[in-house]
Amino acid sequence: MVASTGSGEREGWSSRSAFILAAVGAAVGLGNVWRFPTLAGESGGGAFVLFYVACVFLLGLPLVISEIFIGRTGQDDAVGSIRKVAKQSGASGSWSLFGFLGVLAAFLILSFYSVVAGWVLYYVGVMGADFLGAIMAGDPFRGALLGESQEAVSGRMGELFANPMLLLSMHFAFMGLTLFIVARGIGSGIEAAATILMPMFFVLLVGITVYGAFVGDMTEALAFLFTPDWSKLTPQVMNTALGQALFSLSLGVAGLITYGSYIKGPSGLGSTSVTIAFADTGVALLSGLMIFPIVFAVGLDPAAGPTLVFQTLPFAFQTMPAGALIGLLFFVLILVAAVTSSISLLEVPVAWGIGEMGWSRRTSSLVFGGGAFLIGIACLLGYNVWSDVRLLGFWPLFAETDILDTVDGFTGKVMLPLGAFFTAIFVGWKADRRLVKEMTGLSGVWLSLWRFLIAWLCPLAVGTILITGLFPQILG
Ligand code: TRP
Repeated sequence: MVASTGSGEREGWSSRSAFILAAVGAAVGLGNVWRFPTLAGESGGGAFVLFYVACVFLLGLPLVISEIFIGRTGQDDAVGSIRKVAKQSGASGSWSLFGFLGVLAAFLILSFYSVVAGWVLYYVGVMGADFLGAIMAGDPFRGALLGESQEAVSGRMGELFANPMLLLSMHFAFMGLTLFIVARGIGSGIEAAATILMPMFFVLLVGITVYGAFVGDMTEALAFLFTPDWSKLTPQVMNTALGQALFSLSLGVAGLITYGSYIKGPSGLGSTSVTIAFADTGVALLSGLMIFPIVFAVGLDPAAGPTLVFQTLPFAFQTMPAGALIGLLFFVLILVAAVTSSISLLEVPVAWGIGEMGWSRRTSSLVFGGGAFLIGIACLLGYNVWSDVRLLGFWPLFAETDILDTVDGFTGKVMLPLGAFFTAIFVGWKADRRLVKEMTGLSGVWLSLWRFLIAWLCPLAVGTILITGLFPQILG
């Protein structure tokens, strides 16, 4: 164990596999099981999926290596780590400003992430009560929400949205859980949670996918997800795919800088990062293969949008064998994925509070968990009492989006690509080459390939996406 400088020993992961588990937990979240199937469905399947996979490996993976490199080298919160790498490289300390941008972005993302996770929590309750009813009726393997019409099933979402107190209590419960885990620290909080929850997640994911293969329409799902119709690959779709790759890998907001800073021993960054990228992409694709066979079997619309998972699927579970049980497990799976990601989002500002402000972990968790909770309240009120509010209404891109979508859109389309862009420029052009070589453990052709991707392809591609994302009129 290498003790850090300063007061006392800084926390750390107990092993390399603990870090990988936590990082995969951060990557695998609502982005994989909710956002990815939603976007793939809306964007017409195959072409989007293949372009997404290309983005992950050509742009995402080099950035994963870069973020972990900064954290592993700096051994400090995001801002402090960048400052240290800059210093060791003879670059200006002002580069740490993009770390601060990341801290702010993570904090903002957490605020609406918890609201969405609150919807999941509500559905766990709905399906849980329904399954309990099935057991009491002596028929545990019956379908879900029997006797409710499709309108009634999908209407549940509308009822939830119209009820601020219900939304608020779910948001409160989820944020409380996140805060509780993060306040316990790296080892007995985040690492312990990932060690329990991630295996559980994988068992559920594989189990429900196998179930879907038997009762659903796997052939049609495979064709939909993997047969590209290249005419559907518009600039907007490419834009969406890259944004989704960054979001899903937790890039651009210093998440992996922060997690990487708790690695103590030798890192082997190349293989570690490849594992994270493969696991995250594998889960996204498997989620597609879990959801779409069920959607197609019942003849539902794959392009239903963000409500696909919440309104469409519960109805599909009505007609399927053991739908009540599988429906419950399905929402438990999403909840588990959301928890291991939300703790990574909270850890970014919490580490900043500890490292830069000198707060205790407990104070920092309360400040940022509480703060994100309050901002989240504005997001959820945007569905009811504040449904007319347009936060960035002066900006054509956000002229029609409610509060939650505005925070989501602004962080995802502006802050995240900006963070990724600066990370690429900083590591590709400013960081000391010997330091990079030593700390990443990359050599030979892999080092050259990675250098090319991080110094040239990433800034160009991410920069283009950023500009065209912000000014869609350029694309006509
Ligand atoms: N990657 C997570 C998901 O797919 C979300 C997430 C967690 C995230 N930490 C992040 C996104 C940091 C951006 C930055 O759900």
